Amino acid sequence: MLAPREHWGSRVGFILAAAGSAVGLGNIWKFPYLAGQHGGAAFLITYLALAFTIGISVMLCEFIIGRAARKDPIGAFAKLKGGLWPIVGFMGIAAAFVILSFYSVVGGWTLAYILKMMTGVLVNGTSQELGKVFSNFIENPVRPIIFHAAFMTLTIAVVIGGIGRGIERWCKILLPALFVIILILLGRSLTLPGAMKGIEYFLQPDFSKMNAAAFNAALSQAFFSLSIGMGAMITYGSYLDRTMNLPTSTIWTTSLDTSIAFLAGLVILPAVFAFGFDPNAGPGLTFITLPAVFANMPGGVVFAPLFFVLLAIAALTSAVSLLEVVVTYLVDEKGVSRRTAAWGSGAVMFLIGIPASLSLGVWKDYTIFGKGIFDFLDYLSSNLLLPLGGIFIALFVGWFFSEKALEEATAGGKHRFPVARIWMFICKFIAPLAIAWILISGL
Ligand code: PFF
Repeated sequence: MLAPREHWGSRVGFILAAAGSAVGLGNIWKFPYLAGQHGGAAFLITYLALAFTIGISVMLCEFIIGRAARKDPIGAFAKLKGGLWPIVGFMGIAAAFVILSFYSVVGGWTLAYILKMMTGVLVNGTSQELGKVFSNFIENPVRPIIFHAAFMTLTIAVVIGGIGRGIERWCKILLPALFVIILILLGRSLTLPGAMKGIEYFLQPDFSKMNAAAFNAALSQAFFSLSIGMGAMITYGSYLDRTMNLPTSTIWTTSLDTSIAFLAGLVILPAVFAFGFDPNAGPGLTFITLPAVFANMPGGVVFAPLFFVLLAIAALTSAVSLLEVVVTYLVDEKGVSRRTAAWGSGAVMFLIGIPASLSLGVWKDYTIFGKGIFDFLDYLSSNLLLPLGGIFIALFVGWFFSEKALEEATAGGKHRFPVARIWMFICKFIAPLAIAWILISGL
């Protein structure tokens, strides 16, 4: 006898878990620097427009596929349609391996930075000094890998707890904590003298900065940030019961994710401007510029560790969803126990992460298609696997599963879904075409 499939304990629990997956390094580390690089408000508006049309539509498709099949991504496509469709699920599982291996390396950095911020590294407050601290750390062959192991172990521990008592319970604690921390930081950032310039930069659009590259970055960012295109939301949807209102849950998840990205921008950009740093600092904005900002700020020794706790929490609740994709597959399809699946797949991802980490230091010279291993894994997932997965998920629901999908979305007519036709139109045409465009222009 098979044990009955676990499911989420409550609607709020499910939404917090899905939002926990979405809110991650993508929101707090990537979004503010992308906005900084692509003209602030113009990027924000484009991002919001894409997230609430294409992003939200693909997310709903994933919840529907998951709940209709009640299976892992490969099993779900096999059950609902068969043929070649399970390949889409397979790509998702592959993407989970690729993303978590480098994501956990950065997750490890956040843990290391909590400690660094508590142990006086801020005394050398210039961004040059802090740049050296950062590069010395990530280039070290051993230390980041120890923190990568610690981060992966935390992720495995949450996943072993299962859906209700592991993921849901932790997300219910961690996500509200994250919200409180971000509000505290917001209060600090907005009251800094000179913060207004940053607020203006972030909220007053300059559309001359909005070009194809910025549009492209906004769409890829929407996919990564909303955790769509690889079956994470199919997996979470597979643990839902039949009565839940899927369209409103999707709106909640997307709104929570975009609000956290918005708030992160509103914390980071005003602080960066207040101290005269460059918003265009790129990926170093969080690990170099921001500590320099904290070093110069009254109360910085308290706010700096708090910020990295925030980042670590966000990273953990996302990493958990990446591991869960693989664990659900191994449990559903291969009959492996949850514990063995989590340790086994976590260990493999940890091992793939090692060369990724080394590629930022001692293995700098090894490249794949002209990129270091870390950058290659990031590129492969964000620019190829997620968008490709997104196209097929939208096409599947739009063209091959549309009637059943509508029925599933409304739980057999029980819930209202007034924008059903617009959603279908996006799935059939807009999403596949727009995503195909990013894929091609990204190559
Ligand atoms: N959404 C996460 C972030 O913004 O950091 C990253 C992510 C998690 C991507 C889960 C994909 C995924 F399936």
